[in-house]
Amino acid sequence: MKVLIVGDGGREHALAWKLYQSENVDKIFAAPGNDGMLEIAERVDIDADEIEALADFAQENGIGMTVVGPEEPLVAGIVDYFVERGLPIFGPKKQAALLEGSKAFAKEILDKYNIPTGEYEVFTDPDTALNYLENAKYPLVVKANGLAGGKGVIVASNYQAAQDAVARIMEDKAFGDAGDRIVVEDFIEGEDVSIFALTDGQTILPVTSTREHKAVFEGEEGPNTGGMGSYSPSPYVDQEMMEQICREILRPTLHALNSEGIDYRGVLHVGIILTENGPEVIDYNARFGDPETQVIMPLLAEDLLELMQMTNDVKLKYKKEIEIYGSDAVCVVLASAGYPLTYASGYEIKGLENLKYHDDLLVFHSGTRLENGKYYTDRGRVLGMTVVGEGILSVINTVYDYIEEVNFKDMHYRTDIGFTIPDVPQAPVE
Ligand code: GLY
Repeated sequence: MKVLIVGDGGREHALAWKLYQSENVDKIFAAPGNDGMLEIAERVDIDADEIEALADFAQENGIGMTVVGPEEPLVAGIVDYFVERGLPIFGPKKQAALLEGSKAFAKEILDKYNIPTGEYEVFTDPDTALNYLENAKYPLVVKANGLAGGKGVIVASNYQAAQDAVARIMEDKAFGDAGDRIVVEDFIEGEDVSIFALTDGQTILPVTSTREHKAVFEGEEGPNTGGMGSYSPSPYVDQEMMEQICREILRPTLHALNSEGIDYRGVLHVGIILTENGPEVIDYNARFGDPETQVIMPLLAEDLLELMQMTNDVKLKYKKEIEIYGSDAVCVVLASAGYPLTYASGYEIKGLENLKYHDDLLVFHSGTRLENGKYYTDRGRVLGMTVVGEGILSVINTVYDYIEEVNFKDMHYRTDIGFTIPDVPQAPVE
């Protein structure tokens, strides 16, 4: 079968890497993909938001499965459009993807179906929001309602910070129309985990747990990025906790969607805080995360294409569980200094060749360009270095050893990925 992957980052590279191992995958196309994927996929010059052109390509080339990486095309209705044209595609339809596309909609669902989450308010005009915020309890969280590439969530520790967030989101329109509404939410204290699950609308099966580090600097300082590193599984989610999450969050979410007449098929990625009172939802995402996918794919002991087909064909009830290898994986993102704000790129990446000799390392490309046999930096997030092995502490140490072997001008990475795991030594801050 021919597969088309939509998107161009490290997540899409990891999906391509995993699908390449599927028995029934003969050829992978990536639209637009990135140069790091060229050994396993052919790049197609169509962007992820060109839905009609993607469908034309899928039709003309007999694509048996299109896999959508990023959220924007899902929220824009790529799946609805492909389905209308009879083209196989993996991911939720527009109405279902609204769980990610509108934070206010997600909170309404959580609230209506008593799924544990923080208290919240929704505002459509800045003055009313500011009136409320003047007497609110801090810290709290201000979120742009729509999609903002993971950067529209601001933790405000006092009124001044909340005022700045409102100005940035609603007045300066830093995230465009995504800031027409804001959600103001309680700040929930506890360990942060993400749960990835597959659902076909009737059955929901957890894949695994991950932890992601979003802020650009050590200790969760600085602006939020798309993600600076991740590891899996989370040591805080043992079997008992996963069962509790299935019981209190995953299955109630599926029930809520069904009750609302929403047929959700695809990945459900749930952001959760483990509080003293149990797990509470902070957000839903309608697709695999990035960089989380870079640690999930190497641990997935299943044929990914088969799982996607079972999801589309509503056959997940025939699976008892999704099998995961018993190893640990960590990914550290190497970025261009200045990201997520302003940064320079076009610098040669040195040392990549030698990294090929490490059997326990996978290098997923997020933003590189190949020219005359050499890779150059091409974006904010450049490479994801993923090590897979036994024991999270040893895996973390190994990834930092390997990072010493690669460099490019302005290379920036966090030295403390995994720092909330008990016994992870605090690496020296750069
Ligand atoms: N890394 C966060 C996300 O992809 O949602």
